Amino acid sequence: MFNKEDLKRQLAEMNLFPWDTVFVSADDIKGDIEGGTETVLDALNEYFSDGLLVFPTHTYATVNADHYIYDPETEPPCTGSAAYLFLKREGVYRSLHPTYSVAASGRNAAEYVKSDDAAETPCPKDGCIGRLVREHAKILCIGCGLKGSSFIRGIEEWACVPDRLSPDYLPVKIKMPDGTYADRNIKRFYSTAGDVSENYGKIEEPLLAKGIARKGVFAESECLIIDAERCTAFTLKLLQAEPSLFSSAGAVPDEFYAVKKSIKISTSLLSCNAARFEDEVASVSHSDYIHIDVMDGHFVPNITFGIPIADAVHKITDVPLDVHLMVSNPSVFIEPFAKAGAEFISVHYEVDEDISKLITLMESLHVRPVIALKPKTPVEVVFPYLDRLSAVLIMTVEPGFGGQSLKEECLDKARKLRSELRRRALRVDIEADGGITASNIGLVSSSGVTLAVMGTSVFREKDRNAFIDRCKG
Ligand code: DX5
Ligand code: ZN
Repeated sequence: MFNKEDLKRQLAEMNLFPWDTVFVSADDIKGDIEGGTETVLDALNEYFSDGLLVFPTHTYATVNADHYIYDPETEPPCTGSAAYLFLKREGVYRSLHPTYSVAASGRNAAEYVKSDDAAETPCPKDGCIGRLVREHAKILCIGCGLKGSSFIRGIEEWACVPDRLSPDYLPVKIKMPDGTYADRNIKRFYSTAGDVSENYGKIEEPLLAKGIARKGVFAESECLIIDAERCTAFTLKLLQAEPSLFSSAGAVPDEFYAVKKSIKISTSLLSCNAARFEDEVASVSHSDYIHIDVMDGHFVPNITFGIPIADAVHKITDVPLDVHLMVSNPSVFIEPFAKAGAEFISVHYEVDEDISKLITLMESLHVRPVIALKPKTPVEVVFPYLDRLSAVLIMTVEPGFGGQSLKEECLDKARKLRSELRRRALRVDIEADGGITASNIGLVSSSGVTLAVMGTSVFREKDRNAFIDRCKG
């Protein structure tokens, strides 16, 4: 059972902020919520206390040639029960677009909805939908994805995609706040290809791959959180290349959005088949590095490889070794691993040893020094050492085991580190370790990571080298 506070916590976990402008589509929210949809709305209202909350409240399905009066007070939206109940709330304003209205509450809501007063179909860039881009809004889809999204419809219209408007004008009457009726002639959203908005969901995957969208959870529903500005720029580019992109349902061709990932891959041997060690190492020869996870059963609750293994791997491959020391006393092990052929050695910041001395030791042994950070350690702790480091290793899972899922929130550390490195004009690799797969490597790379450790996802492939090549982009 979820209560209001649980839902507010989930909004915070999605990295949404109280001052955000959010365009919410919600459909069929899963999970048992105490108080139902009203609690959902209370949670959204309270959480975005300094922000602007916007819901689509279309009347496209009901306002037509037979029913040509749009009364914003009474016309029910065809966008689900959350939008319906939202409209009935105090302090909610609805715009006057006869078929594609929105409702808003919060910061400057009354002024915001006025942007639609003269809005048309196609919707202008300064209408309510267009303003979401200027406001740097986040598009929050709860349990529904982008299928049918009026935000994407707006982008199609700004791109002037042919075959998106009815050939004829529809005369409508809009009931104005003073009770009078305003006459308007509008074109309707229409395509000879049928309901093209059904196909809008096809850009979800490219948006996720580019890091423009991310996933979250609200109650038990999967959510998408999309950056309105970047989504618009990207979709306009896609539509420029292929104006009929949404006229059919097929996937967006890869070449339309290939992410140029200049990312290096360090393959972790943790999940290889130890009984066939030599073959397993040979099968990942396209890796930029081979990552050896050394665990002592004390710093982490697991035991893995030691010095003889590093030495053996070094003898059977030309790929340089990236040794990740998850041990409590790295000062004891740096020299033997250096002698075993390590190119990089990572030591954890969280150990009870003097970090500066550990770096000096690595420098004296001509090993490239790396500091590793557990998920909860803030990235700022490495800033004083950056000019002496070859890389910073950001753990994207709790260290100890392979095969866990990537904690997306850890990527914020990569973003922060990237801007610090840029500011100081330093060249230091940003290494991420744990839960990286082919489907999230785009997101990882767009967060600023330059070196990705991959274990499970490489070794479950048949042709590992082909997979590594694909991941490098
Ligand atoms: C976890 C290790 C990782 C791990 C990565 O403590 O540091 O290197 O093996 O493997 P996957 O890709 O399986 O998460
Ligand atoms: Zn590791």
